[in-house]
Amino acid sequence: MELRQHLLAIVLLIFVHLQNFDCTLSKNDPKKPKSKSTFTIKVDPQEETVFERELVKVQTSAKEILSDYNAYSTKTNERRVDKTVLGYITPWNGHGYDVAKIFANKFDLISPVWLQVTPTPGGKGYVMTGLHDVDKNWMTTVKNKSTQSKVKMVPRLLFDRWSGQDYARLFKEKDRVWELSRVISESIKKNGFDGIVMEAWSQLGGQHSSEMIKIIGHLANHLRESKFIFVLVIPPPIYHGNAPGMFRHEDFIRLVDLIDYFSLMTYDYSSSQRPGPNSPIKWVKKCVEILDPESKHRNQILLGLNFYGNDYSINGGGPIVGSQYIDILKNHTSVKFQWDDNSQEHFFEYKNQGRHTVFYPSLYSIEQRIRLAAKLGTGISIWELGQGLDYFYDVL
Ligand SMILES: *[C@@H]1O[C@H](CO)[C@@H](O)[C@H](O)[C@H]1NC(C)=O
Ligand SMILES: *[C@@H]1O[C@H](CO)[C@@H](O)[C@H](O)[C@H]1NC(C)=O
Repeated sequence: MELRQHLLAIVLLIFVHLQNFDCTLSKNDPKKPKSKSTFTIKVDPQEETVFERELVKVQTSAKEILSDYNAYSTKTNERRVDKTVLGYITPWNGHGYDVAKIFANKFDLISPVWLQVTPTPGGKGYVMTGLHDVDKNWMTTVKNKSTQSKVKMVPRLLFDRWSGQDYARLFKEKDRVWELSRVISESIKKNGFDGIVMEAWSQLGGQHSSEMIKIIGHLANHLRESKFIFVLVIPPPIYHGNAPGMFRHEDFIRLVDLIDYFSLMTYDYSSSQRPGPNSPIKWVKKCVEILDPESKHRNQILLGLNFYGNDYSINGGGPIVGSQYIDILKNHTSVKFQWDDNSQEHFFEYKNQGRHTVFYPSLYSIEQRIRLAAKLGTGISIWELGQGLDYFYDVL
């Protein structure tokens, strides 16, 4: 009996060993395909939403994302967000123009990044540039499609190439403030816009906020006379390690009755110097609570959502847009997605001349932020529509 058991054990051992051996062999067998393509990339819209297809969840994979990212739901007119939704569009990621057409009823404000205002050299005036990018036919089409949300066109206006001296002159000379306001409102009128998104605050690095608030106040009154919408881009009030930001609670309070909406840049929390999640959810919440602790003006705050990600590497790395993200996934279909519960973001690692770590929004991470915005009572602003994946819009 004992011998038989012993022999059986040996036979079993050899068997297990052979199996392992076989396994190792087949792994290295060059004739065998590396991984079976067990997915097809859906190219057409699907009747069911990403929720009905059960894609909005922690557990995800490259193959699942690749198979579905193009396949948004045909129910493009249904929306889940009842507060204000703003979407930015840049001419350098042209797909955003199509996104605005397809999902027109999911947006209230569309902000094409078109305009710059610059002081005329040596003169007393200001000049509006970027008007060559204005696409009237597209604006008409989007508005025509937006039968329910009645989308408004509010191009982004950048204070471009302003020196310290240019600002100093504006702050000192009342005539200049009038002239600047006139140039801006005439441009809105002439081009059939509904208002403007002004980006100037960060340029001053948090300095001269009192003077800046006066200028903005004057401009706001001017625009209000014509019933134009006025949105102000604001940097976050706090950064990593609780470092104070350039826009404070006091600034918010002084501007809140003058401005229609604040487009809050709650992204770029991490950088290639300090890799990590792009927009940790607790930080996002904190930013809103610092600006408006008593929850009096929440519907004027548009919580910033990034539809781009970051691919960090030993050499630094940097931002990636949707198409680059998809290219990475296509080359690395077996990457392991991880969920960072603290920041509420997905990430994965891959190897290409050293280790890379990729943070890019997922259906689930976006859904968590939509829920946060609903809980806080804020609207949403998205940077930007040409950089995301088409099925993201099912979540809005
Ligand atoms: C607006 O949409 C309607 C119905 O879809 C269409 O008949 C009309 O030509 C469109 N108008 C413009 C200006 O695009
Ligand atoms: C994907 O792989 C191809 C072929 O090896 C390569 O040319 C391309 O650069 C890779 N793309 C990415 C994003 O890694």
